[in-house]
Amino acid sequence: MVNALFITFEGLDGSGKSLMIYKIAGQLRQQGRRVFTTREPGGTKMGRQLRQLILGSAYGSMDERTEALLYAADRALHVSQVIRPALQEGKIVLCDRYIDSSFAYQGSGRGIAIEQIRAINLFAIDNLMPDITFLLDLPVEEALGRLRGRRDRLEQEDTAFFARTAAAYRQLAAQDSQRFVLIDAARSIPEVQQQIMDTLTERLK
Ligand code: TYD
Repeated sequence: MVNALFITFEGLDGSGKSLMIYKIAGQLRQQGRRVFTTREPGGTKMGRQLRQLILGSAYGSMDERTEALLYAADRALHVSQVIRPALQEGKIVLCDRYIDSSFAYQGSGRGIAIEQIRAINLFAIDNLMPDITFLLDLPVEEALGRLRGRRDRLEQEDTAFFARTAAAYRQLAAQDSQRFVLIDAARSIPEVQQQIMDTLTERLK
């Protein structure tokens, strides 16, 4: 039986990743599996400070290289302090966003060359790529429509930014169909949950 597995969830803001992680974690725990859930940015104590720096507006705007490096710094800390230790303990790690968020948002969204994003992030993750990445795919208008109330600094970007981000995600998934599972997140919550569980049940045999 497979124990440790590193699973990431990606998608636009509003795609329903957090709710899905909550539900999938509950279902796996009911099966007696040891599950650890976490997220980026902010999966460590110091990371929560980094999250405030990145997403808050306290210091006004930020240049895109700084933003990319802060996400990568948060990720490096997250891998070394939290994700790798949990995997070494044999847990299934469900992580809300990881390296693909930086490809999609800082790369295609902000327009930084993908090779540069890859370089700083491969340094950050120290070879720890996810075993499975679920891409919760949703039309941009629908994702943005689901974001009610106050938006953080990233979520205030315009529709074109998110359109580039969504397209980048689809391209990443198409380029690496071994790792990615494309999920139509416009369907009902039980349907999305079932598709994810079907994949996991197969992988966890
Ligand atoms: P997230 O925590 O998913 O948003 P929330 O919980 O507020 O809905 O992500 C915060 C924002 O950070 C989101 O807009 C995507 C962005 N982000 C990047 O741009 N690059 C990254 O590498 C990561 C991890 C997140």
